[in-house]
Amino acid sequence: MAAMEDHIQMILFTEQQISQRVSELASQITLNFSPTNNGGALLSPSSSSAPVVVGVATGAFLFLADLVRKIKLPISVDFVRVESYGSGTVSSGKPKISCDLKIDVTGKHVILVEDIVDTGNTLSCLIGHLKSKGASSISVCTLLDKPSRRKVNFELVGEGKFYRGFECADYFVVGYGLDFAELYRNLPYVGVLKPEMYS
Ligand code: PRP
Ligand code: MN
Ligand code: MG
Repeated sequence: MAAMEDHIQMILFTEQQISQRVSELASQITLNFSPTNNGGALLSPSSSSAPVVVGVATGAFLFLADLVRKIKLPISVDFVRVESYGSGTVSSGKPKISCDLKIDVTGKHVILVEDIVDTGNTLSCLIGHLKSKGASSISVCTLLDKPSRRKVNFELVGEGKFYRGFECADYFVVGYGLDFAELYRNLPYVGVLKPEMYS
């Protein structure tokens, strides 16, 4: 079997570029949720108002792990799992939450962490869900954003902000959490899969 790297046509974002950008995003989040930042004013010193950072499994697992280690505030970490593909290969456009949060987010500031925003269906579904649970603000932090593919415009909640690592052209990207048929998530960079690997 060929090395995994041989399946990649080109690298879009290197390990070093990702690491640098993750540091910048974590700094922005730290600043915005810092109790000393009156502009943000989102966090009081009590642990009950510490933000809940929610990774969307599976894709966000590496980004979440790297991001939270660079956020210099007390935070909680949780996961949700959303499925939009069922048994088919085309998105149904109606994602279902197959594994819900463990933490009660009522009255909490939530930061949803995604590897990529594509059509927006996953986030739209999750934001609606978290809003109905009474989150006091909902922010989104995504490593990659493909605005050219958007079908649904999601609205942030309360003072929530949109944090984006990189805008991504419409390539089929894998690595750093992103998969093709559950493979390639463990690549340390984001790359474009050779067409012969999926055709
Ligand atoms: C991918 C990706 C996002 C979502 C984005 O997840 O990780 O969660 O699709 O697409 P959308 O904006 O069109 O909803 P996927 O459903 O492939 O599950 P995975 O994270 O387990 O790979
Ligand atoms: Mn996902
Ligand atoms: Mg996937």
